[in-house]
Amino acid sequence: MEEIIIKTPEQIEGIRQSSKLAAKTLAYIADFVEPGVSTDFLDQKIENFIIEHGAVPATKGYSGYPKSSCISPNEVVCHGIPSSDIILNEGDIANIDITTILNGYYGDTSKMFAIGEISSQAKELVEITKHCLDLGIEQVKPGNNFGNIGFAINRYAKAKGFSVVYEFCGHGVGLQFHEAPQVDHTARRNSGEIMKPGMIFTIEPMINQGRPSTVVDREDGWTARTIDKKLSAQFEHTILVINDGNEVLTEIEE
Ligand code: MF3
Ligand code: CO
Ligand code: CO
Repeated sequence: MEEIIIKTPEQIEGIRQSSKLAAKTLAYIADFVEPGVSTDFLDQKIENFIIEHGAVPATKGYSGYPKSSCISPNEVVCHGIPSSDIILNEGDIANIDITTILNGYYGDTSKMFAIGEISSQAKELVEITKHCLDLGIEQVKPGNNFGNIGFAINRYAKAKGFSVVYEFCGHGVGLQFHEAPQVDHTARRNSGEIMKPGMIFTIEPMINQGRPSTVVDREDGWTARTIDKKLSAQFEHTILVINDGNEVLTEIEE
């Protein structure tokens, strides 16, 4: 298996800057998320913002992916391709996922947006999913096993009556878009490799209202939906292991 890269101080600073820009882009786009907007309109705004800040959207051209962000509404679990035909409507929820390349370094983050007033069930799913990410981050410290991230997430989500997507994972990030290790969000307690200072990876739990299985769209080859078409939510941060715990690189004060 591929080694988990321990980043140098210089690399860490580069990844920190790129991560901040990805987070700023998410904060910037919030003002444009409203009923009636197309996901392609949002994607174009995102692309322009990233380029104006001297960076490149990592998704564009990645394995043939055509757009500068992933926008995944309602039953879309992840990798929703922005389109002028996809309109966000009152009551929808949507994840926007942004990955920047700044000076060669990658930062990856996503969050949920509510379009207008949403149902109490949708609200609960979004809140539980955010808490799943926070519980995962609590496990990030030197000496802990990667598996304890997914163990904490899965235990909590299940207790709340939701299911955790097992077909997509978090990942090492920074010098490449997707590096070792894979961060499984349903892992067993004390499984997996040991975290060390200088490791950087994402935690990005996808939590479903119904069944955990997903189906990738046969036409576009990317859009992953819940198999039962029930709602799914996701939050993602890029996280650095430091001596006394962790630093969430994609967190900014808003
Ligand atoms: N940003 C996504 C992640 O969190 C990856 C998107 S890859 C794409 O890993 F090609 F679908 F854009
Ligand atoms: Co990611
Ligand atoms: Co992402």
